[in-house]
Amino acid sequence: MERTLVLVKPDGIQRGLVGEVVKRFERKGLKLIGIKMMSLDEAILREHYAHIASKPFYPGVEKFMRSTPVVAMCWEGVEAVETVRLVAGITKARSAAPGTIRGDLAMSVACNVIHASDSYDNAVKEVKRFFKPDEVFEYDKSEYMHVYLDDEVAGGR
Ligand code: PPS
Repeated sequence: MERTLVLVKPDGIQRGLVGEVVKRFERKGLKLIGIKMMSLDEAILREHYAHIASKPFYPGVEKFMRSTPVVAMCWEGVEAVETVRLVAGITKARSAAPGTIRGDLAMSVACNVIHASDSYDNAVKEVKRFFKPDEVFEYDKSEYMHVYLDDEVAGGR
């Protein structure tokens, strides 16, 4: 099973969209295994956004991400990284497909409701960055028998 990181960004918190985001991933069949609210400081943002730190828009992203606490979530499922990105929609929210979180709920490339890990390797790093080991939980989800065939769970990543 893969694990992946989702952050409900400051716009999502301010607009009261935390429940909507959780609902969409829950209804998809993903398993919530970690959730917490936190304020992000310059250091964690510089690490998290290292790939855009030299871009001219980075100072604006940092200011925005520090403006309001975020809600960090860890979701688990077969191929969860790709599934979460599909449910999220593309980064540029005003062009994101209807039916996706960004496509239905946002207009901006930065204020696009959530961050979602973009690859398996980054998901492993990002879950570690935002959650201590004892903040991520292992438990049986009874509805799995209605979400996957046993083979998919055993064979999938
Ligand atoms: S992604 O989702 O990581 O694949 O998206 P990417 O295009 O690589 O963008 C990385 C993050 O940078 C933000 N971004 C921007 N902010 C402001 N202005 C502009 N032009 C811009 N382009 C990209 C974008 O919101 C991504 O943030 P996260 O938190 O990863 O979604």
